[in-house]
Amino acid sequence: MSDLTTRPVLTTTAGSPLPDNQNSMTAGPRGPLLIENYQLLEKLAHQNRERIPERVVHAKGSGAYGKLTVTNDMSKYTKAKIFSEVGKTTDLLMRFSTVAGERGAADAERDVRGFSVKFYTEEGNWDIVGNNTPVFFIRDPMKFPDFIRTQKRHPRTNLRSPTAMWDYWSLSPESLHQVAILFSDRGLPQGYRFINGYGSHTFSFWNDTGERYWVKFHFKTMQGHKHWTNEEANVVIANDRESAQRDLYDSIEAGDGPKWRLHVQIMPELDAEKTSYNPFDLTKVWPHAEYPLIEVGVVELNRNPDHYFAEIEQSSFSPSNIVPGIGFSPDKVLQSRLFAYADAHRYRVGTHYEMLPVNRPHSQVNTYHADGPMRFDAPKGTDAYYEPNSFGGAVEQPSAKEPPLRINGDAGYYDHRAGNDDYTQPGNLFRMFDEAQRQRFFANIAGAMQGVPTEIVERQMVHFGKADPIWEAGVRAALRSAAAHDASDDASSPLSNAQVAEAAD
Ligand code: HEM
Repeated sequence: MSDLTTRPVLTTTAGSPLPDNQNSMTAGPRGPLLIENYQLLEKLAHQNRERIPERVVHAKGSGAYGKLTVTNDMSKYTKAKIFSEVGKTTDLLMRFSTVAGERGAADAERDVRGFSVKFYTEEGNWDIVGNNTPVFFIRDPMKFPDFIRTQKRHPRTNLRSPTAMWDYWSLSPESLHQVAILFSDRGLPQGYRFINGYGSHTFSFWNDTGERYWVKFHFKTMQGHKHWTNEEANVVIANDRESAQRDLYDSIEAGDGPKWRLHVQIMPELDAEKTSYNPFDLTKVWPHAEYPLIEVGVVELNRNPDHYFAEIEQSSFSPSNIVPGIGFSPDKVLQSRLFAYADAHRYRVGTHYEMLPVNRPHSQVNTYHADGPMRFDAPKGTDAYYEPNSFGGAVEQPSAKEPPLRINGDAGYYDHRAGNDDYTQPGNLFRMFDEAQRQRFFANIAGAMQGVPTEIVERQMVHFGKADPIWEAGVRAALRSAAAHDASDDASSPLSNAQVAEAAD
């Protein structure tokens, strides 16, 4: 232990030296306590306030800092300065997550992985709040809270409910594409380094001449894809609930941080009226043959945060954070997310969440939103506290205005399921699996359907069959095999941990 006289003095939060941090102040050695021992009261009171609400989804996560290096000139498509020249670098923060589990959930669970990136550009923060999947379970935001309920705990049992999940999915055929990915090998990655990331939605680029392009973002892992089988994951979780956090942290500490190649798919604005599918439908991918991947840059992670709570728990990503040259699209789910995230941040972190160091843009921020809890600096130019003003306050920037978007249509509730093909793309994905992948896929689905009422299983089978009859037949066979296995298990003892570990080797 170093010489205590050279160490900094421990103080209260008001800066006053703390006389004793080992013993409370009492009336005599046996107590009782004295209420004037403010340092003790502060310590206990502070502890009561050390948690903020966890994210309502994607609560368990890991994050790190890094940079984007541009490898391809994109100025033809976008005026965003982040892409203005080859070789340009921009600092960034990434956060990865599982979706359904709470903040203490195990990492190695079958689930979609969140893939959030905050680019600290010279024109403000640009966030991509994506997943490791190019599609999603829903195409209308009205269904998001219902869908999420099926992934969380049952109100009475407080357990996750496979019945709720398959009930919802079987009644929502637009989920099939994402369900196919979830139960494929990619549904259980070995760690965050081994996943792709996708913006998933269609966004837009616009250039200096006011041309708009629809764009999809793809981050391709440069570490390769690595997955656990269900059995392997059970062994991992038994030994380490933080396997993905550990893997990411250790790789960065060892100087071997992960990298992704950032690509875009670009669609000229008017093509959106010609494609056979709705290019703003979040349950669909754009065929790569029609809209090939164009490399844009390389993203790498190279620095772990110093303080998980301050920098990762409080990090606040929102699809509404865009910069000039990048825009949204009519995708209904994206449109709803433009509201949901900043609203969540104000509730979860606080009114001035964007002033926290991890969220603060690296560019200058000039806003008239000054008052509110936790305003911890004094805004400059006190006479210019409204707008317009005659006192030199910040003014709008017309060059940041995106080109007008042609829209049309009568206001109404349009059935998003009517006439939509929910089967071809999931079927095409299934047909790309080799035989071993298919067998694991069937077994994963059958395993997840254990205990689900037959009528729900049968309703889901119809969707599998419409996507591909081999898919339906495979799941039926896996269900029969699981039932036979259960019957024989009844007569024998359960597998020991060692047997499971052996099976997973
Ligand atoms: C987190 C809402 C769809 C990816 C969240 C949070 C909310 C939310 C409220 C917590 C935010 C926070 O507390 O910081 C919604 C709604 C959706 C939707 C209302 C649709 C209607 C999606 C989709 C994706 C996605 C389609 C991916 C393509 C994420 C990710 C996070 C997240 C990655 C974690 C962000 C982080 O790392 O902090 N979502 N979400 N969500 N969501 Fe969504």
